Amino acid sequence: MKRAKLTIVGAGNVGASCALWAAAKEIGDIVLIDIPDFADKTAGKALDLAQCAPIERFDARIVGTADYAAASESDVVIITAGLPRKPGMSRDDLIQTNVKIVRSVTEQLIAVAPNAVLIVVSNPLDAMVYTAWKISGFPTHRVVGQAGCLDIARYRTFIALELKCSVEDITALLLGGHGDDMVPLPRYTSVAGIPVTQLIPKDRLNAIIDRAKMGGGELVKLMGTSAYYAPAAGSVQMAEAIIKDKRRILPCAAYCQKEYGVGGYFVGVPTMLGGNGVEKVIEVELDAAEKDLFASSVAHVKELVQVADGFLKG
Ligand code: NAI
Ligand code: 2OP
Repeated sequence: MKRAKLTIVGAGNVGASCALWAAAKEIGDIVLIDIPDFADKTAGKALDLAQCAPIERFDARIVGTADYAAASESDVVIITAGLPRKPGMSRDDLIQTNVKIVRSVTEQLIAVAPNAVLIVVSNPLDAMVYTAWKISGFPTHRVVGQAGCLDIARYRTFIALELKCSVEDITALLLGGHGDDMVPLPRYTSVAGIPVTQLIPKDRLNAIIDRAKMGGGELVKLMGTSAYYAPAAGSVQMAEAIIKDKRRILPCAAYCQKEYGVGGYFVGVPTMLGGNGVEKVIEVELDAAEKDLFASSVAHVKELVQVADGFLKG
């Protein structure tokens, strides 16, 4: 039987961490791609990762290269190519450079991996998913963005810290764009089935929600660059759901037309991820306050997409 192939474009902090998580989970063979100037460095990272296998006991062929031919017939591609944030920058400040990068990467990928599902990670996320979709011409179910898996992991981590309980027992939902205006939903958050609103007082829960929303910035301040271990874990969680056709329900940036009344944009919503990519977008009931928060997050996504569109046309 043919092994699945996962290509990761951008072999920097997030990309290399994706390769490590994916190899350890044995989700398929891995191709790491970066720019020609970093061809040796990328080959070196792949070799270093391959040498973890005898110790950690996983089977995965890992190649590092600048040659897109290695990505041929990939099942899934994770796009992490692009500049990360530095202290004082917002995700939106990256747009002009990263539109160019994601455009060029996508053009090269579609020539060799026309049937892949693309998982976009580069920021500003919601506009970069749109860019990859626009350039690839792929059906909407084969282009999806990683943000929610990370954002919800941050939210779950802070709830577990507050309750001093296992993070495994916390399930939650989050909507909107990958910005500080993302919308964690306490009404849809539970701890082993117990609504979180019964366990954490409102003011503490609001503080946790605010910390989760600003979670990316907190790490940029601490590390001088943006986070990578958890973003990579979230991206590989999505890749695994697709490659293994798990039909997992995960919060992802998916194309919504009539869903939630979004009108044709990629925004964070609960999705079912399986062998075809986004198998479906799941609509949940929202109250008036949740609808308002979601609408302002979507309005921000639309502004970003307009800016990206300008650079794509220019
Ligand atoms: P990094 O600087 O460590 O790595 C980026 C890599 O992309 C570099 O190795 C660079 O050489 C490569 N690259 C640049 N142009 C390329 C091209 N045309 N083709 C192939 N490779 C190219 O940055 P890091 O920390 O890995 O972040 C990558 C991106 O992911 C950033 O845009 C960052 O903002 C975003 N990000 C998104 C998250 C999310 O949840 N959606 C979370 C964390 C980061
Ligand atoms: C994060 O949320 C910067 O998008 C990245 O950590």
